[in-house]
Amino acid sequence: LSPEEIQQRSEAKRVRDDNMFWAQRKRMASVGAPKRVGNYWSYEEKRLFQSSHVSKGINFDKYDSIEVETIGGQGHEQPIESFAEVSEKYSLDEGLKANLVRCGYDKPTPVQKYSIPAAMEGTDVMCTAQTGSGKTAAFLVPLVATILREGVKPPDEGPVAPTCVVLAPARELCQQITQEAKRVCFKTEARAVAVYGGADVGQQLRELSEGCDLLIATPGRLEDFLSRGLVTMEKVKHLTLDEADRMLDMGFEPQIREVVEKHDMPKSSDGRMTLMFSATFPKEIQKLAQAFMRNYVWVGVGRVGGAVDSVTQSFVEVHNNNQKSDQLMNILRQNPQDSTLVFVAMKRTAAALEPQLNASGFSACTIHGDMEQPQREASLQKFRTSRAKILVATDVAARGLDIPVVSHVINHDLPENVEDYVHRIGRTGRAGQKGYAVALVSDRDAHALRGIIEVMKRTNQEVTADVERMASNAGPPPPSGRACRGGKGGGKGSFGSSFGSSFGGGGGGFGGRGRSRSRGGGGAPPPPRLRVNRPAVAMVLQ
Ligand SMILES: Nc1ncnc2c1ncn2[C@@H]1O[C@H](COP(=O)(O)OP(=O)(O)OP(=O)(O)O)[C@@H](O)[C@H]1O
Ligand SMILES: [Mg+2]
Repeated sequence: LSPEEIQQRSEAKRVRDDNMFWAQRKRMASVGAPKRVGNYWSYEEKRLFQSSHVSKGINFDKYDSIEVETIGGQGHEQPIESFAEVSEKYSLDEGLKANLVRCGYDKPTPVQKYSIPAAMEGTDVMCTAQTGSGKTAAFLVPLVATILREGVKPPDEGPVAPTCVVLAPARELCQQITQEAKRVCFKTEARAVAVYGGADVGQQLRELSEGCDLLIATPGRLEDFLSRGLVTMEKVKHLTLDEADRMLDMGFEPQIREVVEKHDMPKSSDGRMTLMFSATFPKEIQKLAQAFMRNYVWVGVGRVGGAVDSVTQSFVEVHNNNQKSDQLMNILRQNPQDSTLVFVAMKRTAAALEPQLNASGFSACTIHGDMEQPQREASLQKFRTSRAKILVATDVAARGLDIPVVSHVINHDLPENVEDYVHRIGRTGRAGQKGYAVALVSDRDAHALRGIIEVMKRTNQEVTADVERMASNAGPPPPSGRACRGGKGGGKGSFGSSFGSSFGGGGGGFGGRGRSRSRGGGGAPPPPRLRVNRPAVAMVLQ
């Protein structure tokens, strides 16, 4: 087909989809959304709750001893100790409560203990908590509770007008958050719908046309629906950015501004609540984030910006890039039964490694940004269900994905910045499970290793002399500027000055309970905690 023909066809499809959407909206407004019957719910229950998600590991209870730091807020937010306490205090919907039981969430994780009541009180939250510690439910529970408390409106003829919008940086993450949202909304009136690129527009519009209270989206496709007038932001009361530091970095920020500022979304000064979550939050991005928020509470769980403790990290020296695949095979052969996520820097490396691994007798599949969406999803599904033991991935799979089976993460190439490293290795060791991360370090990766070491030291993780030596092989820094950024994880003491003025005298909230510490309006940074953890081990494989 010529480019003109492709253009004409996509234009025609767009018109068809839009017409179908408006016809459906009209129908829904006159006859109402279809009533779901018993069979539908029993099928949904199986699909949503029996599907894989990480079960609690032996270290889950250790979460209770993690220190939580809060700054700011309105002064009346108090952490909760149990879901029963949230329920009592905020009269949670019975259906929502039953869904938490179905999910197997018998007690809240630290991030949930602090963020849920803050959001229920209507306070904005900026939160950093380690990978795999339940941030998704920390924002979904208060969002769905609020939707149900305020009552769900029946669909009308106009554009779809969600009251809650969650933005996420990757398509598969958007699907995963929606899956979790559907669990929380199960059998209630609240409707969660996913909007993300690469998938069929018609299908997403059909789902939207039945109504949507909680929209979970990647910014590009949402922008498309907004500019076509199919969705409006005018009713949005709650905006959440998951992986907020990624959403506000150079790559995504313009798209976020487009969605948040260039359409009809109420401003935060007009009462919109904003929640931001990530396992990392570099200081300069925290500053940028403040512009989107009101008098917010900062919740820092554990060692802010650092890698999760439950993952044992090791570093393997290789002398050149060619040695990497040999060493990779060596490591994989040592753990043939385990599901392993292999991160590479480039799509073409991913595309080349997959057949190489399969030819060597492994079962591997791949996910990267040049693949069609159905292939991306098929790979992920194969890996989730252990039909493939190895997933070779670029950073499209680095953040947020919750894949129960992953016990090992191998960094074939170290990522450019330390935040990506923290997220990548956080694909294992989730919800208190144990995990292992190995990085192959050639001279080219030595710069990145320096940044990683800096953060490991700042977060009191021990670094062996061998690992230090590997990092010392680095030459002058590469020109990209962002490479090997270390030590900016928004760690303790690093945000005092930038936060001091923005709280307007809050800070009473959360004080004096459990192991939390609370500071109002940015006082002197607390002394670093002394904690000795497992050393990072260096290995040189033969
Ligand atoms: N209260 C809870 N009790 C038991 N399991 C929980 C609880 N909350 C969440 N989980 C489970 O913990 C796992 C990790 O949760 P989640 O994906 O929300 O982590 P996260 O903090 O968002 O991690 P990441 O930084 O990688 O995005 C999920 O499988 C989730 O179902
Ligand atoms: Mg997450």
